[in-house]
Amino acid sequence: MKTSNFPKITTHVLQEMKLKGEKIAMLTAYDYSMAKIIDFAGIDVILVGDSASNVMAGHKTTLPITLNEMIYHASSVMRAVERALVVVDLPFGTYQGNSREALSSAIRIMKESNANAVKMEGGREIKDSIDRILSAGIPVMGHLGLTPQSINKFGTYVVRAREEEEANCLREDAKLLEEAGCFSIVLEKIPSALAKEVTESIKIPTIGIGAGNHVDGQVLVIHDMLGINHDFSPRFLRRYHNLFDEMKGAVEMYIHDVKSLDFPNEREQY
Ligand code: KIV
Repeated sequence: MKTSNFPKITTHVLQEMKLKGEKIAMLTAYDYSMAKIIDFAGIDVILVGDSASNVMAGHKTTLPITLNEMIYHASSVMRAVERALVVVDLPFGTYQGNSREALSSAIRIMKESNANAVKMEGGREIKDSIDRILSAGIPVMGHLGLTPQSINKFGTYVVRAREEEEANCLREDAKLLEEAGCFSIVLEKIPSALAKEVTESIKIPTIGIGAGNHVDGQVLVIHDMLGINHDFSPRFLRRYHNLFDEMKGAVEMYIHDVKSLDFPNEREQY
């Protein structure tokens, strides 16, 4: 079921959805086949997240993934997608240094993958980079709250902005990103009341992950919501399937059929 009547999702459509009170559904994808399925299902936004570093490459953090690897994932997704807006994470180390480098990273993503927008983690500290990328006509999605690229600074993945000082900083950063011209902001793992306040205080849509229900949309990592990743169970995650066990069961049956000479049978050969 398509959740919106819009044939092709653009950043302007997301803005209209916020105005109409229609929630935005976003999921991650990193390859052609998965992107084809979720686009066909009617997802509004596909995020080629740097969580690919964890779920596709098996790293412990999002830090190791490279710009070339993100472009590879994004190009594969773009070959499948017809309707969803595709946003690609700028990976760690490709935009924090200086705004020229940030612009050249964003341009590489847009040119080489054909994606629709980039996402960047942070607020005031990356404002110059955001300004420069926006001035080149590249749409930017912000990302505040728990920003996994800063895990070595935080030291833990617990809920952010519970204290007033950090919450204030986040409120200001959300305004700053809106004023800079970002088209949307991901709010990750912050108290629901703060996410509601931020969502009501800005005109651009907020997309929450672990930020409660009073945001303009939700995002989950596809491997988590399908239960492919079965050893990650944060409170905010709703699992819609247990694909780890289902796929394991199918592979066990295949192994059994091969070893018992049941596969292939007469109808399955030439
Ligand atoms: O990389 C990612 O998957 C993300 C989402 C968790 C928002 O940034």
